[in-house]
Amino acid sequence: MLLRVENLHKSFDGLDVLKGISLGLEKGQVTVVIGSSGSGKSTLLRCINCLTPPDKGQVWLENLELTAKDADLNQARSKLGFVFQDFNLFTHLTVLENVCFGPLRVNKKSKEESRQIALEEIERVGMLDKLDAYPAQLSGGQQQRISIARALALKPQLIMFDEPTSALDPELTGEVLSVMSGLAKDGMTLLVVTHEMGFARSVADRIIFMEGGTILEQGPPEQLFTAPENERTRYFLQMISQLE
Ligand SMILES: Nc1ncnc2c1ncn2[C@@H]1O[C@H](COP(=O)(O)OP(=O)(O)OP(=O)(O)O)[C@@H](O)[C@H]1O
Ligand SMILES: [Mg+2]
Repeated sequence: MLLRVENLHKSFDGLDVLKGISLGLEKGQVTVVIGSSGSGKSTLLRCINCLTPPDKGQVWLENLELTAKDADLNQARSKLGFVFQDFNLFTHLTVLENVCFGPLRVNKKSKEESRQIALEEIERVGMLDKLDAYPAQLSGGQQQRISIARALALKPQLIMFDEPTSALDPELTGEVLSVMSGLAKDGMTLLVVTHEMGFARSVADRIIFMEGGTILEQGPPEQLFTAPENERTRYFLQMISQLE
């Protein structure tokens, strides 16, 4: 098991947002998390890399416990890539500088090695022609591809995505999803919050349906999408397909 989450709890001002989540991710597996707004999906991802400290429960990345009191969170987070909905690039740095930042500053590689790593990852997302551009000069889809390259440059063991395409126009969504599908094909372990059902159906090994801070149902896409066991899951999927 690459990532193990045990009985995670989180509340904000008396509101229980995560009510004992447990899950495990195998290496190379793609897991998609779906669920209505406020069900705790973003909080789950943020608690996994301790951007938000959980109130209770444990997170293990192989044999490194992120929730341990003496955990080196900077080291742990460099192994857990995170791609946000709103890209979060450094606006005052160029594409190349954004992607070099992690290897250089976090992983303490030399300048030359950082540059090599960055170039490889920028190539992987098809953006070599924009090395010297600033984020403001890029489309949303291009910015998101650079944030993926930036996450990859840290050589993470797992990448988490929180609704990576929901800020994008439909025509830009496709280019980001195709980069993500490529990562899945290359064997990268992904944990993705998304409501892109085409992606979920064709790329995910497992779908997790969250509701009110719990995992209500999970299973392979063919099972969850065609024969959901829970009434709430069925209702949610119906809503999504109507929106589509
Ligand atoms: N930092 C915070 N302080 C207080 N309440 C918070 C905080 N973060 C999240 N919440 C609350 O926790 C609940 C779950 O939020 P979360 O962002 O995890 O949901 P979500 O499933 O990601 O929703 P969405 O689909 O809208 O992104 C919401 O009621 C939210 O208002
Ligand atoms: Mg969210």
